[in-house]
Amino acid sequence: MDSITVALPKGRMADKSFEIFASCGISENIQNEMSRKLFICDIERNLKFILVKPTDVPTYVEHGAADIGVCGKDVLLELKRDCYEVLDLGFGKCKMVVAGPTNKKNTFLSNKRVATKFPSIAEEFYKKKGENVEIIKLNGSVELAPLVGLSEVIVDIVETGTTLRENGLTVYEEIFPSSARLIVNKASMKTKSDRIKEIIYKLKQATENS
Ligand code: PRP
Repeated sequence: MDSITVALPKGRMADKSFEIFASCGISENIQNEMSRKLFICDIERNLKFILVKPTDVPTYVEHGAADIGVCGKDVLLELKRDCYEVLDLGFGKCKMVVAGPTNKKNTFLSNKRVATKFPSIAEEFYKKKGENVEIIKLNGSVELAPLVGLSEVIVDIVETGTTLRENGLTVYEEIFPSSARLIVNKASMKTKSDRIKEIIYKLKQATENS
């Protein structure tokens, strides 16, 4: 049996990722074990699981350090790593949006500054619109930027909308919907094809039944 390494994302998508692998019987115990470790082995099934930052999942998969991984469509579109996207897992639903101060929603601004953790997505979005903007890359707490005068708007993901609301911000435009995706290393798809197809099949069924 081929050995398979799975990269799972830490943070908000972790629990749902553990659940979906458990629910279809791929590995029942990861949730318990992963609460303590970043790396676990299911020796019986020849499976390894690693827990990494969501933005690092495609890197592990592209380089073959993991055969498959779970990560958001937002991250995939931003990083454009060379791997196959094979399945929409249906959880981790959120939207990529342009947001800004609620009281300035209808103010026209030329040459605005856009703070974001997703510079490539933001750049492409404004390029398509033919708008000139200055992109300011941040690594987190993006909602702060318009509040302290670092930018006029942000491009970020919104899930519940709580962070925007609590900071007096509102959605100006929706860019695209996002959710968790299953990604596969291109070489592994060929060399470990049977095992990977079986995993995709089980996860697809779990997705359809949830
Ligand atoms: C994400 C995103 C927003 C927030 C949206 O940040 O960048 O800040 O979640 O979620 P909500 O609509 O449910 O409030 P994350 O929690 O990943 O933290 P970060 O700002 O440190 O990246």
